[in-house]
Amino acid sequence: MPAAPTHHPQCVLVTGGAGFIGSNFLLKMVPRYPDVRFINVDKLTYAGNLLNLQSIEDAPNYVFVRADIADRNAVLRLFDRYRFTTIIHFAAESHVDRSILAPLAFVESNTLGTVVLLEAARRAWGDSSTDRRFFHVSTDEVFGSLGEESCFTLDTPYDPHSPYSASKAAADHFVRAYAHTYGLPVTISNCSNNYGPYQFPEKLIPLVINNALEKRAIPVYGTGQNVRDWLHVEDHCEAIDTMLQYGAAGATYLVGGHGERTNLDLVRLVLDLVDEELGRIPESSRRLITFVSDRPGHDFRYAIDARYIRETLGWQPRYTLNDGLRATVRWYLSHREWLKQVLDASYRTYYETQYANR
Ligand code: NAD
Ligand code: DAU
Repeated sequence: MPAAPTHHPQCVLVTGGAGFIGSNFLLKMVPRYPDVRFINVDKLTYAGNLLNLQSIEDAPNYVFVRADIADRNAVLRLFDRYRFTTIIHFAAESHVDRSILAPLAFVESNTLGTVVLLEAARRAWGDSSTDRRFFHVSTDEVFGSLGEESCFTLDTPYDPHSPYSASKAAADHFVRAYAHTYGLPVTISNCSNNYGPYQFPEKLIPLVINNALEKRAIPVYGTGQNVRDWLHVEDHCEAIDTMLQYGAAGATYLVGGHGERTNLDLVRLVLDLVDEELGRIPESSRRLITFVSDRPGHDFRYAIDARYIRETLGWQPRYTLNDGLRATVRWYLSHREWLKQVLDASYRTYYETQYANR
């Protein structure tokens, strides 16, 4: 890691902090940095869940505000109220399948929402040379699809294929345009597939665990030969902490897990772990695997060349895929109440009870 930090966060706007990666990030960073204020702004869509954040909700350096980042007036009010030094921008509609069914919400939250934040930051920060940073959390999906060989690198051209990745790519372009045109101090990270605690069970790994628990069919798209590069969410959160404090303003980092697997191999691995943890007959859950019709426009393979972040900032993942998956399976098996609650919308009731009349 470089000797001196390039940025010193003091008052941090975290968008989308009630979602999967955002809540993992806050659960780690709020206790780690008691002198830093964290303002979590989340619309609480179906994917946002305040239950994830119960252990920090009374922390003196943490505040939750329910707001839509695409709502310009709400965002401007926030910037009037808090003197943000730092923005860590997670908020997004994040599920590719939902973007195929209903793309407009992705344009509103992912693209327009990002521009609203950039504009608010530009107005609040002006061209001051003081220490500020806009950290944009993006995805490897902006680069499109790889064949059997090679990896995404910093030179790979943008080629998004789904409405989700197109909306994220557009946001990345706006972030760079604000850096280029107005000198906004930005950092962009493009990360591979995350997995771990608190991931909404619409995504492959928690969906497999949940269906296996309920002995329901496990839908595998197409032939199951598509490849993803899996990274444990805690490794991603540590990478963000490092890039934010030590990364160069204006830099882009590619973050990946060296965890490439075909979907079919991954599903089998997860199912075998579930069998082992539950004491079921080894490999018995594999019979639940059901091949279903493919995702339209399904990207074949993603893989990340993470040399730049390793060589410049010394970050590398700590979890092996096997250890990370075992820990994740154990987490879901010991949080069945959480699963039940996110699946039946009772967390909205929790929110209404907790925040009514405040
Ligand atoms: P998620 O869907 O679990 O959570 C998204 C959060 O954003 C939710 O809490 C939701 O309520 C909130 N949100 C959505 N629209 C909003 C809006 N208009 N205003 C305010 N809040 C809003 O997503 P995630 O998996 O945690 O992903 C977080 C970020 O990381 C996203 O930007 C995503 O593109 C990126 N990313 C995700 C992965 C992955 O594998 N999950 C990999 C790389 C990058
Ligand atoms: O690469 C980073 C991206 O990873 C993030 O930007 C996205 O926010 C995140 O959702 C994830 O996108 P994917 O589409 O790769 O993740 P998902 O879990 O939806 O699917 C993983 C793979 O599994 C993909 O090839 C599709 C396949 N799949 C998925 C589901 C939900 C199935 O075969 N069956 C399923 O039921």
